[in-house]
Amino acid sequence: MQIHTGIITISDRASKGLYDDLGGPALRKAAEGYGWKIVAEALVPDEKRDIQRAIREHIAKGCALILTTGGTGVALRDVTPEAVREIAVRELPGFGEVMRIESMKITKNAILSRNLAAVVDQALVICLPGKPIGAVECLGFVVGAIPHCVEVLQEVPTSC
Ligand code: MTE
Repeated sequence: MQIHTGIITISDRASKGLYDDLGGPALRKAAEGYGWKIVAEALVPDEKRDIQRAIREHIAKGCALILTTGGTGVALRDVTPEAVREIAVRELPGFGEVMRIESMKITKNAILSRNLAAVVDQALVICLPGKPIGAVECLGFVVGAIPHCVEVLQEVPTSC
């Protein structure tokens, strides 16, 4: 199933050019490895409005799946969960639960991770850690549920 995918890196420093965006390219490589088609990419600061605008732009470009990396930690500037929840129609708690539990086997800091998945319009948005390796690891933990979830969300609502 060729899922049209968007990737959003959320990072004050990377968006100011203070350091390279490594998370976005790492997720692009992983997504292409899963056979998905990257149709949009963005790099935005840790600002709610910028995050929400990027998600909406990706949906307008036809993304059925949007992967964000960054801003899911405990720092005051980490606002990705709040930004996504504000525009989501529902949260899918199983994704965050599994990402944290599986990540605990790698780092005790996984307890600090506020990563999540939610539905915005008909797109599946998965918010991953900012560390490239963390983002790719967490995506790997939940990839098995993505095709079916996207298929259900993309179904044209049948009038009952
Ligand atoms: N999960 C995995 N699999 N690998 C990681 O390296 N980093 C942890 C956690 N989850 C990590 C992880 C750390 S250090 C933090 S602070 C939280 O993710 C949030 O990361 P973020 O602030 O980069 O979004």
